[in-house]
Amino acid sequence: MKVYLDNAATTPIDKEVLDAMMPYFTEHYGNPSSIHSYGRKCKAAIEESRKKVANFLNASSSEIFFTSCGTEANNTALKCAVRDLGVKHIISSPIEHHAVLYSLDCLQEHHDVKVHYLNVSKTGEVDLDQLDQLLNSINDKCLVSLMHANNEIGTMLDLERATEICSKHDAYFHTDAVQTFAHYPIDVQKLKIHFLSASAHKFHGPKGVGLLYINGDVKIKPFLHGGSQERNMRAGTENIYGIIGFAKAFEIASEHMSEHRAHVEGLKSNLKNQLITFFPDVEFNGESGEKSLYTVLSVSFPKDFGSDLLLFNLDIEGISCSGGSACSSGTDAGSHVMKHLNADPSRKSVRFSFSRFNTNEDIDFLVSVLKKMVAVEV
Ligand SMILES: Cc1ncc(COP(=O)(O)O)c(C=O)c1O
Repeated sequence: MKVYLDNAATTPIDKEVLDAMMPYFTEHYGNPSSIHSYGRKCKAAIEESRKKVANFLNASSSEIFFTSCGTEANNTALKCAVRDLGVKHIISSPIEHHAVLYSLDCLQEHHDVKVHYLNVSKTGEVDLDQLDQLLNSINDKCLVSLMHANNEIGTMLDLERATEICSKHDAYFHTDAVQTFAHYPIDVQKLKIHFLSASAHKFHGPKGVGLLYINGDVKIKPFLHGGSQERNMRAGTENIYGIIGFAKAFEIASEHMSEHRAHVEGLKSNLKNQLITFFPDVEFNGESGEKSLYTVLSVSFPKDFGSDLLLFNLDIEGISCSGGSACSSGTDAGSHVMKHLNADPSRKSVRFSFSRFNTNEDIDFLVSVLKKMVAVEV
């Protein structure tokens, strides 16, 4: 049996999404910038997709920019804010994704901007009182960049409070919503978000397509220069099938959000309960309940699970999961998130992440494999 429990790294594409994309590989292959019928057909499909996405976000179509991935969306928001909006201070957290952290390193190195990192609790909660105080003490223009949910441990940001604080101090607010987009309802108007990043492959869409929402009042210049695609904001021939896939996957997710959520939450609590019952020494990283992303369960295993070989052994048994993020080396020492949370280095953290395509049989199989592994170790 093969079980895929690494959906925070990427999700399998939904067949319905692939079916919606296929005609744009075969019949509708025009360049959306061409003025003939092939081009016009593709251009219209992109604009239809943009409208659909905007509606679900309570945004206007002119605020939606398709990108190549979440990484590009994060880079665009942060780098353009410094270049075009007079931002002199950026406030973020040390447990953001590297697409944010390395962009901040680059900005600090090459631009006249200071980056501040907020304190983070042991469970990954960002100190929003400190954010308030910091913004109060800075007179220059600030950008705050905080992820909606941490991709390794699943701890969620109180988006409402964070955006309220930013609004109060007239600071720009960017959120990396790559792990939550299409899993939670997001109303960009209500929350006063200036920039929001998303990526289709985290919600059963294709890889290679992302989105940056830019509030209509925020005027930045292009990140990529060249053609006039994406209303001059992002040059390059559009990934048309990707964009169609993004919109279709988002449509399915938005229309069935509570049903999908109930199913995935059931899987997560099934695994958590079985781990508590059968392995009393197991601990959980991050927050729990409403403050935890329902697609992620980060588990800290004691040494007797064969720490170093745990992921390898699970893989041999047909279970795919991850040691943190897909980009980390598979050891806690390799994870900047675990390092900041002061995780016990003798324990091994494994991220199990679920999707609506997982079943309770998958969870039972995982638990049976873990039982077997512990029996062998003992
Ligand atoms: C929180 C977060 N931000 C950004 C990214 C990067 O997204 P992409 O793979 O689309 O570049 C990821 C992907 O793992 C992520 O989890």
